[in-house]
Order: sequence, then structure tokens, then C-alpha cells
Amino acid sequence: MPMIGTESEPIDGPAALATVADEVRVCTRCALSARRTHAVPGEGNLRSDVLLVGEGPGAREDATGRPFVGPAGQLLDELLRSIGWERADVFITNVVKCRPPGNRDPEPDEIAACAPYLQRQLEILDPALVVTLGRHSLGRFMPGSRISQAHGTVRPVDPATGASNALVFAMYHPAAALRTPDIERTSYDDVASIPAALLESRARRTPVAAATPSAAAATTTAAATTTAAVALAAPPSDVEPDATLF
Ligand code: URA
Ligand code: SF4
Repeated sequence: MPMIGTESEPIDGPAALATVADEVRVCTRCALSARRTHAVPGEGNLRSDVLLVGEGPGAREDATGRPFVGPAGQLLDELLRSIGWERADVFITNVVKCRPPGNRDPEPDEIAACAPYLQRQLEILDPALVVTLGRHSLGRFMPGSRISQAHGTVRPVDPATGASNALVFAMYHPAAALRTPDIERTSYDDVASIPAALLESRARRTPVAAATPSAAAATTTAAATTTAAVALAAPPSDVEPDATLF
């Protein structure tokens, strides 16, 4: 978790994220505020350098105020477990923080109204890797690309999103995987490439550190397919549990 801001005015990351979450919970910037039960700001490991971005809350998320806690969330947990990660290793949020009625797609004006919150979360968390889940999240980080082509691929993130030095990795939405067995199989294939993408991004961000013996494996993508390298690519999870939730 980096400190952001100038040296004379440091901004405390956890406090800044909590401020974003507090603003989201009372936000009325778009029409989705009218029918929500709970806004869902996002939650996770504040020290993680991996940020997962879904579409918007569903019924369970609206009822609980937490992201990906329904059926799609269970599949997401299983996908993460397939690479040896836990939900507590990453930070999870959505493009829109309030549930679109009946789980319809978020409208462009709703996505635009909510965008400053995601931008601030990206600035504060400064992730090395952004994982997009589904079309709407893809649209923010790989504008113009189609999910059928982009899934499983990685590219640099435009710093205008708020993530100053990150790679983005595209995945199908887990809800699509639940509906279509082919997409579920593809999602397991895709998620297996995430540790290598994370290592690649870390090496781009800290080329000197990546060249030291302890991080030597980070310099070769091929090594990332070994179990040891996958463990190396696990985001840190050594935070106090009460510091991880917003
Ligand atoms: N689908 C999403 O896109 N986000 C959630 O938080 C839950 C389901
Ligand atoms: Fe505010 Fe975003 Fe919720 Fe709309 S979806 S009310 S912009 S927090």
C-alpha cells in the first residue's frame, strides 16, 4: 500500500479508500441510488497489487453491501483457488457500485457517473494488475475490444484510468461462465495466466528488483507456469483481517 500525495501532504491509503467507500454508500449521482438496498464500494486486501473489477452488484451483493458474494462470487472464488489464491489476496470492486434493477446492464450514463469512484480506487491502490470481469469492465480498460477476442490477453492500462503503471488482464464475467460450460472451461484456462501477467507487470514496475536473485523468477514468463513461480506471484495476504474490509 503506497502512500500517495506529495511529501508535505501524504495521503493515507486505507483512510483514503475508506473515504471513497463512505461517499459511495450515500451517493445519489445516478438513478441506481433510488432502488439500492446497499451500495457496494468494494473490499479486499489493501496491500494487494491485484484489483478485480466486475460489472455491478447483483441481488446478494445489494442485500449485503459486499462484492461477489452470490453464485458468480462462488465461481470467482473457485477460479482464484485454482491458481492457489484466495479472495483475501486481492481487492474486488465493480464498475457501478449500486445494483442495476433486475441485473440489467448498467447504462452508459450510470457508468460515467460512477467512474470517479473507480478512478480514485485505482489511484489509491496503485495495482500492478487489473483483472476485468466481463464486458463493461473490459470497456473501461480495453476500450473498443471485444471480450471474445480479448479474454485471456494482457495489455498496458491507460494511466488516465487512475492506475499509473499497470497491466490489464481480461476475463469473461463469472456469471457468463455459470450460464455457458464452454465459457466456464475457458475461464479456468484464462485464470491460469494471471500469475504470469502479475509477474510481468511487477517486473515492468521494478526492473531493478526483478533482476535480484530473490525475484529472478519474475524475469521469465515461462517460469511463472511452475508451482514455485505461481506462489511467488501470490499477492501478499499478511494484513489484519479487520483492515481488509470496506
Ligand atoms: N457480478 C458483478 O459484476 N459484481 C458483483 O459484485 C457480483 C456479481
Ligand atoms: Fe453513485 Fe455509482 Fe451508486 Fe450511481 S452507481 S448512485 S454513481 S455509487
